[in-house]
Amino acid sequence: MASYPSAAASGQFEIGGDISVNRLGFGAMRLTGKGIWGDPADPQQARATLKLVPELGVNFIDTADSYGPFVSENLIREICHPYKGILIATKGGLVRPGPDIWRPLGRPEYLRQCVVMSLRRLGVERIDLWQLHRVDPAVSRDEQFAVIAAMRKEGLIRHVGLSEVGVDDIEAARKYFPVATVQNRYNLVNRASEDVLIYCEKNNIGFIPWAPLAAGALARPGSALMEVAKELKASPGQVAIAWSLKRSKVILPIPGTANPEHLIENVRAAELQLSDEAFAALDQQARSVL
Ligand SMILES: NC(=O)c1ccc[n+]([C@@H]2O[C@H](COP(=O)([O-])OP(=O)(O)OC[C@H]3O[C@@H](n4cnc5c(N)ncnc54)[C@H](OP(=O)(O)O)[C@@H]3O)[C@@H](O)[C@H]2O)c1
Repeated sequence: MASYPSAAASGQFEIGGDISVNRLGFGAMRLTGKGIWGDPADPQQARATLKLVPELGVNFIDTADSYGPFVSENLIREICHPYKGILIATKGGLVRPGPDIWRPLGRPEYLRQCVVMSLRRLGVERIDLWQLHRVDPAVSRDEQFAVIAAMRKEGLIRHVGLSEVGVDDIEAARKYFPVATVQNRYNLVNRASEDVLIYCEKNNIGFIPWAPLAAGALARPGSALMEVAKELKASPGQVAIAWSLKRSKVILPIPGTANPEHLIENVRAAELQLSDEAFAALDQQARSVL
């Protein structure tokens, strides 16, 4: 049997300057049901995937109260608590009226409820990285940032991250607290957040690209990356992950899966060395389909 790969090969990043994690993390949104709603279709397989995460050297898990809702955080508590050496990053600020429906809610009392309930579900006294899932356009940005700053001061949150934001939002938030990470959609074929990535690089902010596999499209047979993948004797999903790791030292990809085989395959991407030529060729190829 082939030995397990290790996420340590992806290199390390210090979140908030004081929590070192292996750059290749795990996205725990897929440990839920269809529409990111309710229990996973195969709960035993989801549990087996989560059990395997630390065995592969993955010590950065991304989740949110809204995944399920609560299903993902509850599973993480059940399988991974007391989290020895694993950073659990969660999020709040979205309500879920039903499957596939996500609505921002940034009223200060709700954001506080999100944090205290995540603390309870995850069984911790402080959340190492809490991310505002969306800035609610219906609530003043300052009000949202102010309550987050207060919770950080009270010790409920150690580091703060933002999600789906522009440079202007990050700069506004930094008046209230240091921004440790930004989580925006980004992959080979979706570069809308290039300016945010460049800003994060300049300011040593971790950039967490969600949907690093374009929600699976880059991992499937027939993917645009098939040809390069064949040359490198890798899978297209591995090429997509390796590309993001090479793109910037502040990138922390969090491919999501509820399948242990897929998890192993994804972590093996940390060991895939893309040459500068292959990187440039992929970049060129992806730009032509943008
Ligand atoms: N901040 C935000 O607003 C936001 C939004 C969305 C997601 N996220 C976070 O980002 C993480 C990643 O995003 P994502 O899950 O939407 O997209 P993704 O990681 O790009 O793709 C996940 C999809 O790809 C499939 N997949 C994974 N590995 C595979 C492999 N080796 N071979 C074939 N298929 C594979 C998975 O299905 P299987 O389960 O069958 O493997 C799943 O359907 C989430 O888990 C979540 O933590 C954040």
